[in-house]
Amino acid sequence: MNLHQPKLLALSSSIEQHLLNELAKDHFDLKIIDRQSDEVILSEVASMRPEMVLVEEDFLNSALYQKMRYEIPSIPILSLSNSVEKIRQFYMEFHVDAYEESEVEQEYDRFSGASEEYRKLNWGSDRGMQRAFEIADMLVDWSGVKTWCDLGVGTGAFLNYVSNRHAIQRFVGIDLSSKLLEVASARSYGAIKAEFIKRSLREPVGERFDLVTSIGVLQKCGLPLVKAIAKLSEMMNPGGTLFLTTKNAGWEKFQNAAGLKPYSGHHWFHVEEIKSALDAAGLQIRELAGFEPKTEEIGRPEFFHSIYVCAERKTRARD
Ligand SMILES: C[S@@+](CC[C@H](N)C(=O)[O-])C[C@H]1O[C@@H](n2cnc3c(N)ncnc32)[C@H](O)[C@@H]1O
Repeated sequence: MNLHQPKLLALSSSIEQHLLNELAKDHFDLKIIDRQSDEVILSEVASMRPEMVLVEEDFLNSALYQKMRYEIPSIPILSLSNSVEKIRQFYMEFHVDAYEESEVEQEYDRFSGASEEYRKLNWGSDRGMQRAFEIADMLVDWSGVKTWCDLGVGTGAFLNYVSNRHAIQRFVGIDLSSKLLEVASARSYGAIKAEFIKRSLREPVGERFDLVTSIGVLQKCGLPLVKAIAKLSEMMNPGGTLFLTTKNAGWEKFQNAAGLKPYSGHHWFHVEEIKSALDAAGLQIRELAGFEPKTEEIGRPEFFHSIYVCAERKTRARD
């Protein structure tokens, strides 16, 4: 493996020599600390931000394990009893996506030159773009939203859509594409003072929000689904709301051999993968359904190529 020296934190000095050698061969940057108090471990994780934590089997039954899974689901915790192949495979599946972020960024910078807004954002039609906003607007309980982060904010089209209807005290729009952010920043959003930040979902954000939205982003964002959803969860207050839309690999029209083939320029996800990623990230589904972007139809996911999810961040690790 030759990526960027992924950081691992092992919470045990009794790690076997052979595992140490193999991890070193894979260029993992390994730090070992002996089991310490919960506070020391948490502050070590916070300052090191490892890509994975390796622990002895009994740690998986501890309250600290539950707390870490809930607080920082984007840092997976693996037992040291796994083989190095398992650790390597897990690392690759969790952290490495088929699309590079730089590729996604360049793509959207390029699209930003289009004249119609929906084309700048690579939507199939203006109606389809608006439909996602309508559904989000309908499902979110705006009365509980003081702070909101739109991840993959693009041109600020969604904020523009809702800005006259809801009072938001703090809005942060995050995107990889500086060209789209230029468009977003040039707009006015009524009474809402919006802040736009160029950064990736991959980077830790030191702030939590009542509402996190991510419309049409996950299918091509440079992060595997499980990690992307974990990152979104880490940006949410306990009890906060997540709204996202993405693409459905389980659309019935893809299921028969003579039928349509999914477009290969982005990922498509099965409902079960999405559910399991939400669960792993401490999120409880309020509503998950399929929708047809060009009409008002909403229904069982298998009947649609697009899916929306409205979920809530559990208020405690064991809820
Ligand atoms: C299909 S557009 C949707 C834009 C916006 N959510 C909307 O519905 O109008 C996807 C957006 O996600 C952004 N994006 C993709 N991957 C990202 C990442 N890893 N971090 C931040 N933004 C990302 C793209 O730059 C693009 O603006």
